[in-house]
Order: sequence, then structure tokens, then C-alpha cells
Amino acid sequence: MKIALVVAVARDGAIGVGGALPWRISDDLKWFKKVTAGKPVIMGRKTFTSIGKALPGRDNIVATRSQGFKAPGAFTTGSITEAITLARGCALARGVDEICIIGGAEIYAQTLPLATHIYLTRVYADIAGDVHFPVLEAEDWSERRESACEKNQRNDYGCEFFMLERNTGKL
Ligand SMILES: NC(=O)c1ccc[n+]([C@@H]2O[C@H](COP(=O)([O-])OP(=O)(O)OC[C@H]3O[C@@H](n4cnc5c(N)ncnc54)[C@H](OP(=O)(O)O)[C@@H]3O)[C@@H](O)[C@H]2O)c1
Repeated sequence: MKIALVVAVARDGAIGVGGALPWRISDDLKWFKKVTAGKPVIMGRKTFTSIGKALPGRDNIVATRSQGFKAPGAFTTGSITEAITLARGCALARGVDEICIIGGAEIYAQTLPLATHIYLTRVYADIAGDVHFPVLEAEDWSERRESACEKNQRNDYGCEFFMLERNTGKL
């Protein structure tokens, strides 16, 4: 089973500010929808709260240490291991071979060592964020540029979209 992180990262590694995304980039939302469609998505409680609802067409799994947290339309789990086990089960039931981990920073930091793939949006923004994506070791990953988008009325910043695959023997 592939384990893919899905993330949009500014030049200095920032991914969020004040509990939200630092930008509105319509083409990145389309890319996110495309790469996660039909797959289980795992997220931290703060990211779920920031999105405000379960993402349609995907099994949503929310990691929280709070037993009382209610996430309508989503499963809640008390650990990353439990979240991944549940996601694998959901993926098998739906006949998909990949689970997606969609943030935020706490969850990326804990799951990067398990990741086989990363759907990486490089956002051409210099942002003073308060949460960051870990620095990737270039020799661990092979990357393929998939597409790009320009800054315009719908996109606060230009971006490039990449698929990273962990080099064999590095997991
Ligand atoms: N640019 C992007 O691609 C992207 C993607 C996603 C999110 N973001 C941004 O990232 C920010 C949120 O990230 P964040 O790091 O603050 O929060 P987060 O990772 O979304 O959620 C953190 C919460 O997850 C739960 N958690 C963490 N580790 C756990 C574990 N091992 N077991 C069980 N539960 C665990 C805890 O919930 P409890 O406190 O309930 O116990 C913790 O407070 C926002 O600004 C958001 O917009 C950006």
C-alpha cells in the first residue's frame, strides 16, 4: 500500500498561518481533489477543524488525543498507527492502492518517515508562516514535475506540482 503525503509548501517551508492556509490557490485545490479522489485521507484534528467538514468522496480519518472530539462524517483515531491501519482497511475495501496524509505540520512530521510518495505543490510565495513542512533530503526522493499554474485572479501565487517517489532502499 502506498502512503502519500499531499502538501503545498511555500519557499521557506511554510504551510500554514493562524490555523489556516496562507493562500487561496484554486488550481492547487483542483490538484488536491484529483490526487486524493476516492482514497482515504488522514489528517490532524486542527486541519479537520480548519477545513470545517469531511471531504466528500473520500474516507476521512482524523487523529486526535481527545476522546470527546466529534468529527461528523469522519472516523476519529487516537494514534497515527491506528489511523494508518484504518486507512489501509478503507483503501482495500474500495480497491485503491494508496492512502493520503493531508496534514497538518504535526501529522506530516510524524508520518514523513513512513511515506512512499509525496504530492508536492511548490508555491512561489515568501510567507511568514507559523507551521512548516520538514526539510526533505534530496537524495531520498526522485521527483517528476507534473504541471504548473500561474498567479492570476484565482491563484494568489504561481505553483508547480510534483510527484515525489522515495528512492528504493531508502524506506
Ligand atoms: N499547506 C498545506 O498543504 C497544508 C495542509 C494541511 C494543513 N495545513 C495547515 O497546517 C496547520 C495545521 O497544522 P498543525 O500542525 O497545527 O495541526 P494538525 O497536524 O492538523 O493537527 C494537530 C492535532 O492532531 C492531533 N494529533 C497529532 N499527533 C497525534 C497523534 N500521534 N495521535 C493522535 N492525535 C494526534 C492532536 O489533536 P488534539 O489536540 O485534538 O489531541 C493535535 O493537536 C493549519 O495552518 C493548516 O491550514 C497546510
